[in-house]
Amino acid sequence: MMSSHPVREAASAGRKPVTLTKLRDMHLQAEPITMLTCYDATFAEVLDEAGLDCLLVGDSLGMVVQGHSTTLPVTLEQTIYHTQCVARRLSAAWLVADLPFGSYGETVEQVVRSAAALMKAGARMIKLEGGGWTAECVRALTERGIPVCAHLGLTPQSVHALGGYRIQGRTETSAELLKRQARELSDAGASMLVLELMPSSTAAEVGREVPEIVTIGIGAGPSTSGQVLVLHDMLGLTRGRLPRFVRNFMAGSAGIEAAVRSYVEAVKDRSFPDPELHGY
Ligand code: KIV
Repeated sequence: MMSSHPVREAASAGRKPVTLTKLRDMHLQAEPITMLTCYDATFAEVLDEAGLDCLLVGDSLGMVVQGHSTTLPVTLEQTIYHTQCVARRLSAAWLVADLPFGSYGETVEQVVRSAAALMKAGARMIKLEGGGWTAECVRALTERGIPVCAHLGLTPQSVHALGGYRIQGRTETSAELLKRQARELSDAGASMLVLELMPSSTAAEVGREVPEIVTIGIGAGPSTSGQVLVLHDMLGLTRGRLPRFVRNFMAGSAGIEAAVRSYVEAVKDRSFPDPELHGY
């Protein structure tokens, strides 16, 4: 059966595996970094071939794959399973996996155990949400050789505490808090930082606070080192009203591969995100 025997060499032909050093260099040279979420092997191959720099096994899988209304029900075991599926077909892109809600908030031992399980599943970097107490988690992981991506702004695991999926960092005080938390996370060893749903000006201020680390924006304007979107959103598959920062790359594309390539091109040539259309 042809489809179960894909020609492996075709995947990501000629691309060297993306490393943390490469991502840092891209950041320093202001070459935009591309990231999309991914939850299965077939998409991993398609996205890798399209030239994505990074893939994220996001806990958004709880919403787009499992049908929950929040990311809270996602378990560590489920994230391990999806990370294994994605890692099996990946040859070049840098793989980040989310620590799901409840898998890192208790003790240092717990966060190290959870992160190690995701690294064994094939992740190259672990992502965790929030500032303040998470700096201790970041330090524990990076001291043990596990690269960490932090996540500030709208942190969906705290949706109930935040009062919904609302824009963060709008006031001077909340922007100052984000800057302080970003500084603490970088000092603790985080090498990447996702900034979600905040005014472009706030994201730019946070970026200036931590120029030494890679920032990846989602609804945070054009100033970040790179961009991420949820795969199902950018392919126009998600039903209901989408946030303003999402662009449907299937519109006008000949198919999924073309849509993904068009996302890569748009991030690289900085036509996405357009501050007028996708910014706050
Ligand atoms: O889970 C996820 O998909 C994420 C991205 C939105 C950054 O955390």
